[in-house]
Amino acid sequence: MKPKLSVNIGKLKLNNPVMVASGTFGYAEELKDLVILKELGAIVTKTITLNPRRGNPPPRTCETPSGMLNSIGLENPGVENFLKEKLPFLKKSGVPIIISITSESGVEEFVKLARRLDGVKDISAIEINISCPNIRNDTKIPRCQGTRLIAQDPKATHEVVKAVRKATGKTLITKLSPNVTSIAEIAQAAEEAGSDALSLVNTLIGMSVDAGTRKPKIAAITAGLSGPAIRPVALRMCWEVYQKVKIPIIGMGGITDISSALEFFICGATAISVGTANFINPKTATEIISGLKEYLSENKINNMKEIIGDLKL
Ligand SMILES: Cc1cc2nc3c(=O)[nH]c(=O)nc-3n(C[C@H](O)[C@H](O)[C@H](O)COP(=O)(O)O)c2cc1C
Repeated sequence: MKPKLSVNIGKLKLNNPVMVASGTFGYAEELKDLVILKELGAIVTKTITLNPRRGNPPPRTCETPSGMLNSIGLENPGVENFLKEKLPFLKKSGVPIIISITSESGVEEFVKLARRLDGVKDISAIEINISCPNIRNDTKIPRCQGTRLIAQDPKATHEVVKAVRKATGKTLITKLSPNVTSIAEIAQAAEEAGSDALSLVNTLIGMSVDAGTRKPKIAAITAGLSGPAIRPVALRMCWEVYQKVKIPIIGMGGITDISSALEFFICGATAISVGTANFINPKTATEIISGLKEYLSENKINNMKEIIGDLKL
């Protein structure tokens, strides 16, 4: 018997629980010759804002031990150009499309974006990125002025999720930050405010210096760390959140292969996302899907759901 791989994320049914993470797969068209897109569980797009953004000055990326730093600064064409230029290809891919959004100003921009996307039928879900470490936070949310991220504050998280929840009937996913003391507290705030699911984690804030020139390797000085270097931290956070919330978790952070994907399922993730690994091997996600089928068959597990949260203690 073929094992059942499908899972539900809010109202969204995925044929399999393996997706690609925001910002690491472009708008999918870039990868169309390298990956069989229709095999993916879902595609999460690069975060978009209401207006186009040029992003941060270069250099914006550098390699670090078992990972990378990036400070792209959310370069994107803005919502209307996205809908005109990027969505037509995405909808042909045949898999659920999850649109990542963020605000450059305050709650109102999140609401405007969510309302705009709510009426677009080819969009399966909205992910709110309240955890990008690479944009200056000029939000009008009083608790988050300066450099504080929305996802670093439970009340601000609650406020944003609640407002977006009212603006859309689509499946709503909230993306959390690992740059916090208690991620479970933030996760609970998002759940209480009506989020259907949680994506975790975004990147960890880090920096790297060229000892020769004594200059930061990234122009913005600090940047987001991703890749296998952050996997144990991301996994620990997945496990902590799993014990505190009922809504599904989409786990990510350094997933490169089937065994690292399984770690996240076992620690409570209903689905997983592949990020940095796409830059090394764009087929990572589809290879994980094959690996998952083999693992379930070999272990005589009929349904994917049996391994979710099944950490043996
Ligand atoms: C180059 C790059 C760009 C990213 N851009 C975004 C983005 O636009 N929105 C977002 O929510 N996360 C973004 N991320 C974070 C990833 O989606 C993911 O949460 C993080 O990298 C951890 O997963 P990984 O270790 O598998 O990469 C970006 C990551 C990288 C490496």
